Amino acid sequence: MSMTIRILLVIVAIAGIGLLFTFERPPVDVVQSGYRGVAMEQVYNPRTVAAQVDRNQLPPVLEPVDQSGPTAAEVYQNVQVLGDLPETQFLRLMTAITEWVSPEQGCAYCHAEGEDFSSDSLYTKIVSRRMLQMTRTINVDWEAHVGQVGVTCYTCHRGQPVPAEIWFANPGQRTASGMAGWHNGQNQPAEAANLSSLPVDPYSAYFLNADNSIRVIGNTALPTGNTTSIQQTEYTYSLMAHMSESLGVNCTFCHNSRAFASWEQSPPQRVTAWHGIQMVRQLNADYLVPLQPTYPDFRLGPLGDAPKANCATCHQGIFKPLYGQGMLETYPELDRKAAPGSASAAPVDASAVVAK
Ligand code: HEC
Ligand code: HEC
Ligand code: HEC
Ligand code: HEC
Repeated sequence: MSMTIRILLVIVAIAGIGLLFTFERPPVDVVQSGYRGVAMEQVYNPRTVAAQVDRNQLPPVLEPVDQSGPTAAEVYQNVQVLGDLPETQFLRLMTAITEWVSPEQGCAYCHAEGEDFSSDSLYTKIVSRRMLQMTRTINVDWEAHVGQVGVTCYTCHRGQPVPAEIWFANPGQRTASGMAGWHNGQNQPAEAANLSSLPVDPYSAYFLNADNSIRVIGNTALPTGNTTSIQQTEYTYSLMAHMSESLGVNCTFCHNSRAFASWEQSPPQRVTAWHGIQMVRQLNADYLVPLQPTYPDFRLGPLGDAPKANCATCHQGIFKPLYGQGMLETYPELDRKAAPGSASAAPVDASAVVAK
């Protein structure tokens, strides 16, 4: 064999191995999601989809209960959020949240064994009270995102106390001190951005800080007036990779890639996603971050921050959480606003409860 052929064979072999790991193994299903001819399509691997369908079945719904009779506030001592529910419906919900959040640990995950149910001695109960308020806020105030489908504790928790997808501020990899090897929060495999070298923590930039603009593309032909830096653009792409991964879709689910910035050419899903970004910011700012003092240290992140939510917390790889199957109609008590002035309308002061 001549040297040239040998070299060629080596190149073909390397390229072949590379290709093996670059693309999905055929056959794959392609679903068109935009006008024909603009390559707006989603690629699904039937093997992955089959596993996802299994993981996204709804848990069994509890039998409805007779709702006549006294309210929970009349029967119990310490119900600050759910006091106006009939007592029977209250206990049905307690049974449901046990199934959704702590099926293995049971009631004891939030109610210490041997203590009265009214005791607030476990942090998990205090967190749950705030979670009840958060769930209602999502369903009532964020219809622009969650529609009529809404969410229950199960949407995020899926039968475990800590949801599978949470995030903490990412300090980045430790590097040598001084100027040597300063990564500026990127150029390492970023889990947030599908192991690319984009910034490792787009969440702190966009899901905590509402001031950081996600709009980076100039709207003039020449670079006049657009002061967006390359770094801002990289952060935007890191966020976009997170959003695509969380929903299990391509960029073309929300964009016509010939003009990423143009809203006119984008599918309606992009508007839903925009509301989703605003919603996630509120969930973190008003509910999850303020719970920091309530958590034990082992639940906090490497920088001591509270666990927080992103798109994956609900979506878990699917364009609509649980494929858009609704659970709210069977638990309507999670879809109502607290009466103004009632105790449940006010935020529970988590830190005060723990301190006493
Ligand atoms: C994931 C946490 C969690 C689990 C699991 C849980 N509860 Fe609760 N429970 C709460 C919260 C939070 C409250 C307070 C609700 C409020 O303030 O409106 C509460 C309150 C109660 C109360 C009222 C006590 C009083 O006098 O104030 C009873 C009774 C109760 N739960 C029973 C149960 C039973 C029975 C189970 C198991 C089937 C259970 N709970 C499982 C979180 C939980
Ligand atoms: C939008 C997603 C979301 C929804 C909906 C949600 N949770 Fe949570 N929950 C979280 C996140 C994020 C955490 C923080 C995880 C941690 O504790 O490490 C959390 C933590 C908790 C914890 C503390 C677990 C622990 O061991 O630290 C409990 C208990 C809990 N949630 C109960 C509930 C209940 C009850 C509901 C429904 C009323 C609910 N959650 C709805 C996202 C959610
Ligand atoms: C789930 C929907 C969704 C997906 C998937 C998505 N995007 Fe976006 N994208 C948005 C939204 C919403 C905005 C606007 C955010 C804003 O203005 O606050 C945006 C903004 C952008 C911008 C900035 C446009 C401007 O005005 O300067 C770029 C660039 C972009 N996306 C690229 C991408 C790329 C590349 C991908 C794939 C890796 C992607 N997007 C995937 C929803 C999405
Ligand atoms: C609190 C849970 C929750 C979080 C967090 C969340 N979503 Fe959603 N999202 C939903 C639900 C529920 C639906 C289904 C609504 C419906 O069917 O009307 C949905 C629907 C969508 C859709 C529409 C899909 C379609 O086919 O019409 C897009 C796009 C989307 N979400 C993007 C996002 C992005 C991007 C984020 C993060 C910035 C995000 N979501 C965070 C619960 C959530």
